[in-house]
Amino acid sequence: MKLSPAALTLFLCLPLGAQQTAPTQAAPPKPPNIPDHFTNLTVLPTTITKPELIAVMKQFAITFKVRCSYCHAVSDDLSEGSFASDEKPTKEEARKLMRLIHQATLAPAKP
Ligand code: HEC
Repeated sequence: MKLSPAALTLFLCLPLGAQQTAPTQAAPPKPPNIPDHFTNLTVLPTTITKPELIAVMKQFAITFKVRCSYCHAVSDDLSEGSFASDEKPTKEEARKLMRLIHQATLAPAKP
């Protein structure tokens, strides 16, 4: 069978086009879904900047050797869920701890 030039072009182009769209490697990880504005702060100042808040949160994670999802209803890769949610009781426990530290550091020492 003899291929027409048009059919030959099509034949040569098809695998090339297919190669471009085919995934060559695993899908890249989804970016973390950390909000820029915070809607549910009851202990930290609402004027806190994102880098300041993230520093506090990272310190929590390091100190307690836990992931963000220990206190937050988010996926392990942080791409899904809600940081503002109060679903996990551990988040409220952490608030108690923050209030305690706040009182201990700001209250004048009583004789
Ligand atoms: C030990 C518990 C704990 C861990 C671990 C933790 N957080 Fe938090 N996070 C809190 C608490 C408590 C608040 C609410 C503070 C408040 O009420 O002022 C909060 C609030 C936030 C908020 C603000 C949500 C909003 O809209 O009000 C974000 C964003 C956040 N955390 C991100 C993170 C990230 C990212 C990590 C991991 C690096 C993390 N947290 C780990 C306890 C935790």
